[in-house]
Amino acid sequence: MLQSTLLPPVDMAIGPSPPNGFLLVASYDSIKEGISLFQPEGSSPTVIVKQKDGRIRALDGLCAHKQGELSLGDLVEIEDVSFIICPRHRKKFPGGLHISCESGLYSLPSCLQQQPSEEVKGDWKQRVYPTLIQDGWVFVKDKTQMDE
Ligand code: FES
Repeated sequence: MLQSTLLPPVDMAIGPSPPNGFLLVASYDSIKEGISLFQPEGSSPTVIVKQKDGRIRALDGLCAHKQGELSLGDLVEIEDVSFIICPRHRKKFPGGLHISCESGLYSLPSCLQQQPSEEVKGDWKQRVYPTLIQDGWVFVKDKTQMDE
C-alpha cells in the first residue's frame, strides 16, 4: 500500500501548453507510483494513479457512494487491474469498495474473486478521465469539457 501525494501546480513558465480540452498535471517523472491528488484551483479533486506498469489513470477524487476521499484510499492490483479501495464505509462493505481505475466500476472483494468488474450498484460508477503523455508531461481531460 502506497501513500498518496499532492501534486503541486506546475510553473506555467516551465510546463508546456496543454492540448485542447486537457489540463497539464505534472511531468511524468515527478508522479510517484501510487495515488496522487490533482486539484487545480477552483476545481474538484481528481486522483492520478501511476500503476506499477507505468500507465497513468485519472478518476474523480470523491467516491460516488458518499464522497469518500479516494486520495486517502489504498491502491491494490488484482490480475493486472488497479483498484482504489475507498477509505470510507469499510464496515458496511467488508474489505472496502474496490473501484477499478480502468472502468470506474465498483466491486467488493467477494465479487472480485468471481468477476473482476461486477458493479455493486448500477448507478455507482466513478468517472474516469482520459490521460495523455507527451514529451514527458502528463495531461488529463478537463472534466468541465466532458459531457455528463
Ligand atoms: S464513500 Fe466510498 S464506500 Fe462509502
